[in-house]
Amino acid sequence: MSRVLVTGGAGYIGSITTALLLDQGFEVTVLDDCSTGHRDSVPAQARFIEGTILDGEIVRRALEGCDSVIHFAAKSLVGESVEKPDLYRNNNINGSQILFDEMDGAGVTRIVVSSSAATYGDTHEQPILETLKAKPGNPYGETKLAVDNLLTDLAAEENFAAISLRYFNVAGSLKTPTRWLREEHDPETHLIPNLLKATKDSPLKIFGTDWDTPDGTCIRDYVHVHDLADAHIRALNQLIAGRHEIINIGSGTGYSVREVIDTASKVVGYEIPSVNVDRRDGDPAILIASIEKARSTLGWSPMRDLSAMISDTFESKK
Ligand SMILES: NC(=O)c1ccc[n+]([C@@H]2O[C@H](COP(=O)([O-])OP(=O)(O)OC[C@H]3O[C@@H](n4cnc5c(N)ncnc54)[C@H](O)[C@@H]3O)[C@@H](O)[C@H]2O)c1
Repeated sequence: MSRVLVTGGAGYIGSITTALLLDQGFEVTVLDDCSTGHRDSVPAQARFIEGTILDGEIVRRALEGCDSVIHFAAKSLVGESVEKPDLYRNNNINGSQILFDEMDGAGVTRIVVSSSAATYGDTHEQPILETLKAKPGNPYGETKLAVDNLLTDLAAEENFAAISLRYFNVAGSLKTPTRWLREEHDPETHLIPNLLKATKDSPLKIFGTDWDTPDGTCIRDYVHVHDLADAHIRALNQLIAGRHEIINIGSGTGYSVREVIDTASKVVGYEIPSVNVDRRDGDPAILIASIEKARSTLGWSPMRDLSAMISDTFESKK
């Protein structure tokens, strides 16, 4: 039986991917320092090690018995990365380098990694193809690109088999036999969990209504976390020694902030309170993924739509 090391497996996407891996018969070791994740999100059947990827000895212990790695562990708040770029470089780039060195030492060379649409930066090219020259607009995106570049070198020089999945906006929850696994970030910066928290006294802020889009609000591409977790397992089965592939994961469709709010109001049965405020620095107007490579390389397509992302998030918070 195959054992996978999941770094960051106590986090939102990592815990849901762990649950699906276990469901499909994989054994899983989770390594997480619980800096933003939650111990109780790790499914009971997984082996759990609390510790940081910055500690080579702990990583070595976590790799025991594993033949592949899915690497989620990272800090991922854009605003925080602007305030604390060194923290992000150390955790995300140095942490990944330590993980890769230990993998190399242990002869574990198969890896799927969380990359991000933040690597592309602001671009007029929509939908975004993986061949677009990456030009991150913030330190978080720079760290994700640096990790992708490390993997390109490792594939060429050490025969690593690697896939970076570049996610766009992830949303939704997963119901397991024992509990809902869901997004529990503090602070929460993502639109869907935040619009479900909005009240008349604390309405959802719409950052800019004068963008060059049909209704003036920003357009983003949303993918259900269950579909995303499924893409990781497919990627694990498509790894090729000596190759590093970068593959976008999104829905291939853009929704404006206003459209997301209107869909959510229908799903929950009340008007989501919102207020228009000024644009935020650094927000691109439109981000939509081309997902043709995911379809052709992984045989993957998104199965769950925006309403499902919202209704699952809503149900998981009841
Ligand atoms: N959520 C999104 O919309 C989104 C979009 C694009 C990319 N990503 C990437 O996906 C990955 C998972 O994101 P998420 O939303 O699940 O975030 P999350 O914060 O819920 O999960 C990250 C996990 O990594 C752990 N971690 C952080 N640093 C660590 C370290 N040094 N050692 C061990 N564990 C550490 C955290 O405790 C947490 O459990 C991240 O790499 C993120 O950059 C997320």
